[in-house]
Amino acid sequence: METEADLGNGSIVLIKQGAEARVFESSFAGRRSVIKERFSKKYRHPTLDSKLTLKRLNAEARCMTKARRLGVHTPVLYAVDPVLHTLTFEYVEGSSVKDVFLEFGSRDDVEEQLDNIAYQIGEAIGKLHDGGLVHGDLTTSNMLLRNDTNQLVLIDFGLSFTSTLPEDKAVDLYVLERALLSMHSSCGNVMDRILAAYRKSSKQWSSTWNKLGQVRQRGRKRTMVG
Ligand SMILES: Nc1ncnc2c1ncn2[C@@H]1O[C@H](COP(=O)(O)OP(=O)(O)O)[C@@H](O)[C@H]1O
Ligand SMILES: [Mg+2]
Repeated sequence: METEADLGNGSIVLIKQGAEARVFESSFAGRRSVIKERFSKKYRHPTLDSKLTLKRLNAEARCMTKARRLGVHTPVLYAVDPVLHTLTFEYVEGSSVKDVFLEFGSRDDVEEQLDNIAYQIGEAIGKLHDGGLVHGDLTTSNMLLRNDTNQLVLIDFGLSFTSTLPEDKAVDLYVLERALLSMHSSCGNVMDRILAAYRKSSKQWSSTWNKLGQVRQRGRKRTMVG
């Protein structure tokens, strides 16, 4: 597979090939950038497909912009191209929370840093949810930490949607909880710390918390049956 091509204004390198999008590193007006290209699913009708792809692309751009307005750090959106189905973002210099947490697993001098990251995660999700935005894919791969400031940056609003339902918010948190349990069990009670920060950040905490209890119970039943 060719992963690098010269586009005249510099090189473009494939970072990730997913099921619905390809992510490239490139440059935009001289700045390091990320291009996310949504592509069609071949089994869908071509016209319908193009419409759906464009709808998702616009939704992702809108949700990310909304998150920013709510005071959550996201990459700067440089451009939307409805013909090529691409979004161009600022390239965030730093590591993913996934990589940082995986490294933490093997160390015992990281309590303070872990607390700081957990706090930022809970605070950010609280802001999103109080603003009526559900991320839809809260995993540690979709959270970056800026090198210089250690500031948390949320990415990948490809599955985000607006909702004020406690149920949707609880599921958002539950997805993160499951991801942490399966991938970062060595980080101990990190989800409890995230929830403590979420509680401080979200005024609608109690209705979401009650729902989270129900969502967990359903999850447990499903595990027992499956
Ligand atoms: N703005 C960005 N700065 C740096 N890396 C990024 C940025 N956006 C995405 N990435 C990297 O590309 C990966 C895939 O991007 P993402 O938007 O999560 O697409 P997908 O929907 O395929 O998961 C991320 O996990 C991250 O490693
Ligand atoms: Mg992602």
